[in-house]
Amino acid sequence: MSKPDVKTDEKKQHFDDIYVAENPVPFKERILDALEYVSDNFNRQTFDRLVLPWAQQKADTAGILNFVDLAGCFGNTTMATLNGMDYDAIRNNWRSPEAAASVDQPRRFPAHVTGIDISANALAYGKSAGIYDETIEADLNKPAPETRPELDKALQQADILISTAALIYLEPPAIEKILDAFASKNEEGYMLVNFLNPFALEKADATKRMLLERFEFVGSMASRHRRLSELERENYPGEDWALLEIWVLRRKG
Ligand SMILES: C[S@@+](CC[C@H](N)C(=O)[O-])C[C@H]1O[C@@H](n2cnc3c(N)ncnc32)[C@H](O)[C@@H]1O
Repeated sequence: MSKPDVKTDEKKQHFDDIYVAENPVPFKERILDALEYVSDNFNRQTFDRLVLPWAQQKADTAGILNFVDLAGCFGNTTMATLNGMDYDAIRNNWRSPEAAASVDQPRRFPAHVTGIDISANALAYGKSAGIYDETIEADLNKPAPETRPELDKALQQADILISTAALIYLEPPAIEKILDAFASKNEEGYMLVNFLNPFALEKADATKRMLLERFEFVGSMASRHRRLSELERENYPGEDWALLEIWVLRRKG
């Protein structure tokens, strides 16, 4: 399989080969385990505090919510936020290809989940395991013209859009298009995003400004993300952990 054209901060470790593996076991062993990638505990905590009560109430009236995981890879943050799984539960679920074949915990509210990523293998896994209902394979920095309408539709119709440890890979014009599509629906909706520290801080600042131009700020928290790799510790002397700022924003109805 050819290597996707993934862009990342040059001081940040590249994990591209893991994202295109056929199952999430290398992601579990080399990222979740080896780097103590605990961020989904905090994505879940923030989701539960700021989005889940609204989502469960909305599901009572609407029946089903459109949930989009943008650059979701194998779907770990969907498992955390929608299925309510913590770091250890996800690691246990992904301990072997056989164990990873289905999700251990049910969804906490009815949802139609669209997984979007550049990695065809990660999406195929997410769909076969029942994490995603539908997938869109796209290089979000330059989606193929035939993919654009499908992408825009999924983003427009999303009630909940999550994008974690992901915006760092995207160019500002691509982020603007994504945010404009999500913002275009005149109905209450929520977005959970996070920003990594210490990587690409100016880019994160620009992304925050784009978000604040379009959406209402709801709340945030700071947390550990994962340990820095050896390469990253050389690039950022004296630091051991990558940290996260997790933000929730509201699309106004
Ligand atoms: C660190 S993983 C994020 C996984 C999950 N959201 C999390 O927080 O752990 C980053 C994902 O971004 C995807 N990605 C990177 N560049 C992309 C691009 N240009 N278009 C779409 N997806 C991209 C990778 O394939 C990978 O699955």
